[in-house]
Amino acid sequence: MTGLTRTLRHADEACTAVFDHAFAPGINPWRHLGAMAFLCLVLAVASGIVCYTLYDTSVTGAYQSGLRLQNDTLLLGRLLRGLHRYGADACLLLTLLHLLREGLRGHYSGVRWFSWLTGVPLLWLLWMAGLTGLWLLWDARALLSITVTAEWLQALPIGAELLARNFLTPEALNDRFFSLIMFIHIGVPLLLLASIWVHVQRVSRVRMWPPRALLLSTLTVLSLLSMVLPASSLGVADFSHVPQTVSLDWFYLFIHPLVEAFSAATVWWGVTVFTLAVAALPLLRSHRDVVRSAAQVDLANCNGCSRCVADCPFGAVTMVARTDGTRYRVQASVNPDLCAACGICVGACPSSTPFRRIEDMVSGIEMPATPIAPLRRELQKKVSSLSGSHKIVVFSCRQAGNCTSLANASTAVVELECAAMLPPSFIEYALRMGASGAVVAGCREADCEFRLGDQWVKERILGAREPYLRASVPRERIALSWSGRDMLDVSATISMLRAQVSTLDGVHPSPH
Ligand code: HEM
Ligand code: SF4
Ligand code: SF4
Repeated sequence: MTGLTRTLRHADEACTAVFDHAFAPGINPWRHLGAMAFLCLVLAVASGIVCYTLYDTSVTGAYQSGLRLQNDTLLLGRLLRGLHRYGADACLLLTLLHLLREGLRGHYSGVRWFSWLTGVPLLWLLWMAGLTGLWLLWDARALLSITVTAEWLQALPIGAELLARNFLTPEALNDRFFSLIMFIHIGVPLLLLASIWVHVQRVSRVRMWPPRALLLSTLTVLSLLSMVLPASSLGVADFSHVPQTVSLDWFYLFIHPLVEAFSAATVWWGVTVFTLAVAALPLLRSHRDVVRSAAQVDLANCNGCSRCVADCPFGAVTMVARTDGTRYRVQASVNPDLCAACGICVGACPSSTPFRRIEDMVSGIEMPATPIAPLRRELQKKVSSLSGSHKIVVFSCRQAGNCTSLANASTAVVELECAAMLPPSFIEYALRMGASGAVVAGCREADCEFRLGDQWVKERILGAREPYLRASVPRERIALSWSGRDMLDVSATISMLRAQVSTLDGVHPSPH
């Protein structure tokens, strides 16, 4: 990790921590920006469909339709218009924040390059949908925006004449033009929904919707906003007088002040450079490195149980027909292009158990860079060299902080690519070897660098997900620390567990 990416990750963690203080980690909106953007988009589309049924889609009727909704005495029109407008505004804001967060976390490269690249056009599709929506109001702001946009488009070397003829004369702003805008305003969001489907294709178990509490509070906030600050139109569009100043919608009309402050050509350059720079970010880090260390299946140890498929966060493993003529029907197969080399599949595989008697044990699925046999040897060596009466083993995730600094005479640290790479049987093994307790330390809760690691660790230890940690293993000797880079917090968890096991050992003679 370079200094810059480390700093950016720190910035993200700091931001996450701020929100964690205000919300519980599970409903921290900073963690659900993509899902919240999707919710707001669906809200805008759904309210838009209802608006459409109540709308007169002609140049002469459009403005009155807007006013009718705005002045509805039952306030339902106001709610509908507000949800449509503020839903669209929130969607753009949340999408930008989602982009910022994924960027801070370095999620533009590796296996995520696909989600990143397919995210870039979403931004501009969203903007087009919002811009054309404001035009449909056919008020003074719409007229100014259409005029300024047409002038901006004219700066393009191609079709300037055509644009001037079709946009900039009062005769051109007729019902046909209006139908075209309506077609774009309806078609682009549909294209957007289809593109979002593509955007999340390489992520398994996608969290499309925010948690219920967040979903309900978003709907409540947007509804209240619609009532308190009604979305309204300005005066009707008047072709004889294009206003020079109107109040702007800063979400979708931001380009106009930019064109005014600089020039149409400069803004084109700015937009193009920004888009290309964002789209080119995946080139910054080598994708080949990740491919080289992708998980590999060892058929001699694969029984076709498909647990690796269930746990892989990126859909990189599939079950295919058996090729080695054994009695099993299927075998695991890894697509290296999709593999993030997180090792979570190793933690899921039943043949990763350290209790096997084979000297050079091999798992059904292995990370070539960090195979399971040396991990067992490392654990054996480190636990046997511990001294003191309350020995603690820390299984720490390399994506979180560097826990090796916490190792001392009575604390051993075993590093893993992801906390969920740990087969739960390794915890039992460590305790049987003489450790008094085990800490599993990883990224902040619900913020696993590999998406699902913390969830799988918790479920495996609770016995809710295979491979289970056996019921006979004393849970009071295990602590989980979702502290990210906060080493003080991990250290506090180790001290807490040490105090806890010392009480246990004080009451009962140590079982080890
Ligand atoms: C309408 C706009 C967008 C919506 C609704 C949206 C929604 C989502 C959702 C629901 C996920 C899956 C999250 C999960 O389950 O972990 C996701 C992932 C992702 N999105 Fe977006 N997104 C949008 C735009 C963008 C943009 C503009 C970018 C960046 C250019 C982007 C980058 C990513 C990346 C890198 C991931 C993968 C995250 C991971 O694997 O942990 N998205 N998006
Ligand atoms: S979890 Fe292991 S044994 Fe099961 S299918 Fe995957 S590689 Fe094979
Ligand atoms: S290493 Fe991670 S991404 Fe690769 S196959 Fe295993 S679980 Fe999936």
